[in-house]
Amino acid sequence: MAKSASSFVCQSCGATAPKWSGKCEACGGWNTITEEGAAPPIGASATRRIKGRKFVLEDLKTEDAPPPRRITGIGEFDRVCGGGLVPGSAILVGGDPGIGKSTLILQALGEYARKGGHAVYISGEEAMAQVRMRGARMDLSQVPLNLGAATNVEDILATLEGASFHGKNRPPGIVAIDSIQTLWTGALDAAPGTIAQVRTASFDLVRYAKSSGAAVILVGHVTKDGQIAGPKAVEHLVDAVLYFEGERGHHFRVLRAVKNRFGPTDEIGVFEMTGKGLAEVANPSALFLGDRDSSAPGTAVFAGLEGTRPLLCEIQALVAATSYGTPRRAVVGWDTGRLAMILAVLDARAGVGISGSDVYLNIAGGLKISEPACDLAAAAALVSSVGGAPLPKDTVFFGEISLSGDIRPVPQAEGRLKEAAKLGFKQAFVPKGTKVDGLGLKLTEVTSVADLLVFAPRPSRSQPAKVPSSN
Ligand code: TYD
Ligand code: MG
Repeated sequence: MAKSASSFVCQSCGATAPKWSGKCEACGGWNTITEEGAAPPIGASATRRIKGRKFVLEDLKTEDAPPPRRITGIGEFDRVCGGGLVPGSAILVGGDPGIGKSTLILQALGEYARKGGHAVYISGEEAMAQVRMRGARMDLSQVPLNLGAATNVEDILATLEGASFHGKNRPPGIVAIDSIQTLWTGALDAAPGTIAQVRTASFDLVRYAKSSGAAVILVGHVTKDGQIAGPKAVEHLVDAVLYFEGERGHHFRVLRAVKNRFGPTDEIGVFEMTGKGLAEVANPSALFLGDRDSSAPGTAVFAGLEGTRPLLCEIQALVAATSYGTPRRAVVGWDTGRLAMILAVLDARAGVGISGSDVYLNIAGGLKISEPACDLAAAAALVSSVGGAPLPKDTVFFGEISLSGDIRPVPQAEGRLKEAAKLGFKQAFVPKGTKVDGLGLKLTEVTSVADLLVFAPRPSRSQPAKVPSSN
């Protein structure tokens, strides 16, 4: 029987199908299936008896000190990478189009070159003149950064292998490819941007990183559902995956490590987009709390943790009478499922009676929070909105809520409280058993969600709080 020469691959999840269809059965995506050239069957090398070459097996222990990391000089970026870039490593930087990936990477490479490093920036999306204009805007015009505009991987590798620095043929210290979606290799028939092209081109660049010792940064755009297009196909190839996030209307940008073979994950770097590129934010808590109005009901300050760093931010909740048969739930910056759980627990264990009301929850400043420690702050904000009374001034909250309504301890209470004390907070509502002395903070232990009812002097089952007026 003749074998089909091509297969149909979902560009979103990578699943293969025997024939084209409008919907991917694996991930449910519409119009994501594209025809691609057939991959050789698994085990082909065994049946065709391709003989391999021997390689030397070595000891795990080594006397050699690891080569020093390459520091770009952008402190927030270096920290998220685990203290600089590891020679020979590959890093994927993902994010929405327009969020500032090109700006961040050009700036990091520019600073590296300014300090005397050998940096190469290859743009596949913008012409050289556009990159130069961007560089001029960020005050990098006089920096000896090597710039190229190319999309063919063979061309890029040939150029990098022939790259010279101070008159000698040397691999670059850091190379950035912006972006992987524009790359293509002549070895495949598939169009640029297809999963096969993105995967093959990235694989070649990762291999180049390992063989040459250059640190390779791959920039990738993210699709709507939060996955890098050519999705996930590249994540396992690289040593570190960083996401650059932010809300469009806000100036803050957060660089988050989600995978890092050479450093901690969950580490974040905070930047502010200015007219002259990205500025590092040394004290993010002060920024995210900004000019908050603590007298409004429904707002609570969460003493959170992002990676190794404590971060304070404001949780805003609004519980309003619903005008529809099914109440609305809208969440920005937090998990919808988590909110549903907190609402159910508040109803069942504290009798707050929110289930029939519209509920809106927002993390101020465009921050995204995934820590369960935020539960208590969210619950306090919700209770405060229901009761129409503001929470006590200068107070922070943290603690995880269980389905039984109990408040459970969370990691690194001391770090959270220290940050709160540093920013002038006077009081903290914390899980039972949290003991930290000498910070000048009044600690109030909370054992159950029912304890939060003190913040809602007049909770009502039938009449949720009205929308607070802004005067
Ligand atoms: P960009 O880095 O091109 O985004 P990406 O590579 O992720 O697609 O960022 C583009 C946005 O940043 C654009 O809306 C303009 C803005 N920007 C500034 O506000 N200041 C600057 O100095 C620069 C270079 C860009
Ligand atoms: Mg870009």
